[in-house]
Amino acid sequence: MRRSAKYFLPVLFLLGAAVAHAGQGKFYIVGMGTSKDLVTVRALEVIESADIVLVETEGERAYWGDFITGKEVWSRPIALRVMYGADPEKIADPKKRAKAEKGVRARKEIVDRVTAAVREGKIVADLQGGDPMVYGLTFMLEQLPKDIPTEVIPGVGAFQAASAAVKMSPPFGYDTSAVILTMDDWEGRVDVNEKLMAAGSTLVVYTMLLDYERLFAQLRKHYPADTPVAEVVDAGDRENQKVIRSTVGRFLDEIDYKNLPDERHILLVGKFL
Ligand SMILES: C[S@@+](CC[C@H](N)C(=O)[O-])C[C@H]1O[C@@H](n2cnc3c(N)ncnc32)[C@H](O)[C@@H]1O
Repeated sequence: MRRSAKYFLPVLFLLGAAVAHAGQGKFYIVGMGTSKDLVTVRALEVIESADIVLVETEGERAYWGDFITGKEVWSRPIALRVMYGADPEKIADPKKRAKAEKGVRARKEIVDRVTAAVREGKIVADLQGGDPMVYGLTFMLEQLPKDIPTEVIPGVGAFQAASAAVKMSPPFGYDTSAVILTMDDWEGRVDVNEKLMAAGSTLVVYTMLLDYERLFAQLRKHYPADTPVAEVVDAGDRENQKVIRSTVGRFLDEIDYKNLPDERHILLVGKFL
């Protein structure tokens, strides 16, 4: 290739990208991984192109500071998760109904704001820890008008990072070959943990508001007491990651589970350990 063409083509490409961006807004959900150095190249490209980024907490805003410097930052508060999926009209209790209605209003507000921004040609990137498709916040994909272009950028989630931390592959449980990703038995769920445990498969328990005592009472009924468990704290974070090992029978007595850091620990259960 002639020298001039070699240097000219990338410039043309960049101009092309800028022109494409000028008229076309888009909404992205970006998986940020469980640690800064697990953010993907694609995630960084999207953030670079974004006019507006959404973050859930001030802590995330500070943590991802290097990536989002100079961007307009909007808050996507945790309150948006409240009673997502519940239909207020089907709730008899007036207090709960009011709470559900508040959640519906808050979600509509942010959907309307994002819609207006994308229609103005803005790129909006909603940054989410880990992988957005596992207990992330995906309602905007359902609620944005159909003409709003959307894309999801996958990230390294707590499941993958915790599996790497224990250096054992959760699907390979000797005589079992499945993994169940689950969480506490929140109200209204039909796939409650006791039903899932009956299969004896590997369990990966996300710990949002987890009642450990109830969970281990359930586990003890379905898994032998010597079944290994591992609590992985700060999975994927090379400096702080910690693996705490125990068994189904001993966990509640020997692990200080009440003082694990909020939202940064995940529980693995099964023979694969
Ligand atoms: C709302 S979920 C979000 C999960 C996230 N989308 C993912 O793929 O990692 C939050 C839960 O994920 C788990 N989690 C998230 N980050 C973690 C980390 N760095 N180490 C261990 N567990 C983590 C915890 O169980 C936490 O309660």
